[in-house]
Amino acid sequence: MASASKDNDDLVAWLVDAGFLKENAKALCDNNRDAGSILVWNPGGKIPAPEGSLPDGLLYDEVFSFAKPQEFQRTLKNLFQRLQLERELAEKNRLLKEKEAENSELLQVGIQLTAEHDNDKLLAYILRQLRQITRADAGTLYLVERDEASGAQQLRFKIAQNDSNPRDYTEFVMPLSKKTISGYVASTGSVLNIEDAYKIPSNREYGFNVNMDKATGYRSKSMLTVPMQDHKGEILGVVQLINRKTDFALKITTANVESIVIPFSRELEQLVLSLASQAAVSLENNKLYQEIETLFEGFVKASVTAIESRDPTTSGHSNRVAVYTVNLARAVTRADFGAYKNVSFTPEHMKEIRYASLLHDFGKVGVREHVLVKAEKLYPDQIKLVKMRLGYIRQAMLYGLLKERFHSLMEGGKEAYLAIKEEIDRKEAEYVAEVDRYLATIETANIPTILDAAPAKALDEIHGKTFIEGETALPYLTDDEYIKLRIHRGSLDDEERLQIESHVSHTYKFLQTIPWTKEMRNIPVIAYGHHEKLDGTGYPRGIHGEEISTQTKMMTVSDIFDALTASDRPYKRAVPAQKALDILTDEVKENKLDADLVKIFIEAKVWESKDDSVALGSTAHAGS
Ligand SMILES: [Fe+2]
Ligand SMILES: [Fe+2]
Repeated sequence: MASASKDNDDLVAWLVDAGFLKENAKALCDNNRDAGSILVWNPGGKIPAPEGSLPDGLLYDEVFSFAKPQEFQRTLKNLFQRLQLERELAEKNRLLKEKEAENSELLQVGIQLTAEHDNDKLLAYILRQLRQITRADAGTLYLVERDEASGAQQLRFKIAQNDSNPRDYTEFVMPLSKKTISGYVASTGSVLNIEDAYKIPSNREYGFNVNMDKATGYRSKSMLTVPMQDHKGEILGVVQLINRKTDFALKITTANVESIVIPFSRELEQLVLSLASQAAVSLENNKLYQEIETLFEGFVKASVTAIESRDPTTSGHSNRVAVYTVNLARAVTRADFGAYKNVSFTPEHMKEIRYASLLHDFGKVGVREHVLVKAEKLYPDQIKLVKMRLGYIRQAMLYGLLKERFHSLMEGGKEAYLAIKEEIDRKEAEYVAEVDRYLATIETANIPTILDAAPAKALDEIHGKTFIEGETALPYLTDDEYIKLRIHRGSLDDEERLQIESHVSHTYKFLQTIPWTKEMRNIPVIAYGHHEKLDGTGYPRGIHGEEISTQTKMMTVSDIFDALTASDRPYKRAVPAQKALDILTDEVKENKLDADLVKIFIEAKVWESKDDSVALGSTAHAGS
């Protein structure tokens, strides 16, 4: 056997005679890892190579007895050169494969870092991946914070992982001090790669506190601590990897710690540093993302406040419709019957439904305020004017009678007056009673309940009357007042109703101007249809069931339920929940509302849910 040494890894060539080869072929095969490493001494070529027992390539050459020493030497040299080249090639291939695997792992980490918006999950993921890549047994992640009271920087012990000694931990905060390893890294931004935490030279500014190890029975040895720096160089946290192992699967004990823990290489320092910085950028992105969400939430809150301050009587309506609709969407996702058996809404859908519901009536800001808040058929000024006018007519009539009394007294004396007094008294009582009756009729008709035939006829009578005073003819009721009082249902005439209904188109136009993200792009359309009915009798477009999205249909059910049950609408008395559900059921029978959705709404009792995560101002929003 001959050998040549390279980097402590011996190259071995075998020189065997043909007889030996024949007898020991199997053992030679088993003991040789390098192809072509066997040289056969076969004087005269007498012994044929054992057929089939030696794999191709293992035999390098045969040397015959007549070979000259120089030829033999050259053969041997060539053999070693070839073995060495092959060994180098194999090593390069191995490194290449390792690098490829590492790159693909890093790529995955990069993708995950940008995809994860939950900071706690993101941090745990970063630490786990860094430990896996470096084969570190344990690790800790700290975040740099500012103490709100003192303004001083501090370190939050955020996450700890330990494969060999797993235990529960709680977050805590400590002052940022260069005396600790993590504090030093957080303060200076330098990387500390320590071979043995127990052997840190005493002249260093930082040191290792062994108390934690003592308390847990763990032995921290090699340690790599790097800063998490964002693209602006700001240090957001520190990652500390502890005890790099020869094999990630091994568990560390005090007995084996010396043999299986190895130092972190220089190459790993750069890798960990770069991944930690990538993680810092993701953290920063998440912070920005959350700030945008908070900003948008604030904008929606301001919009809802704007709608409801114009019409304070609908206060809380947008919020309640959002809560009901999201709860209904959750119930639809759970439902295992009917048309919605296979329908489910993702967290992104929920977010879209919530915002569409919160903003569905925003277009009310485009409706004239007196129409928006109109509680009775006549505006307050109008009814006041009617009352004053009738009061005036009554007084004018009484004044006319008074004049009659005066003239008869002056012209005919007491006797003449007594002769007409009874008649005038009767007329006076009649006038007073008539005007009082008219006023009562008008006041009753002004209230927006369904107008019956009798008061309608009485209104016709009043409208037909005119008070003549000299050359002036004063109608008891103007045409406009008469038309308004004759409104059969509700408090609005046709023109006012159209104005109120225009809020849907205003909502749509307003929502369309917002550059929604892809997940929320349907918000304008969802809100646009909230007054449409399955049979096409809704407004503003009069579209039919198949043209209306499920999200809109759910919102419509919630909107009607709240409009009925809310106790704060002046023109409608609040009805109890059960009565409102009966009305919804009637609308289903008339093919106006979706039967399955109303059924789910009722069965899930969505209006009773105490989950307020959907409400404005809550920190945990639906879908987020
Ligand atoms: Fe509406
Ligand atoms: Fe509404």
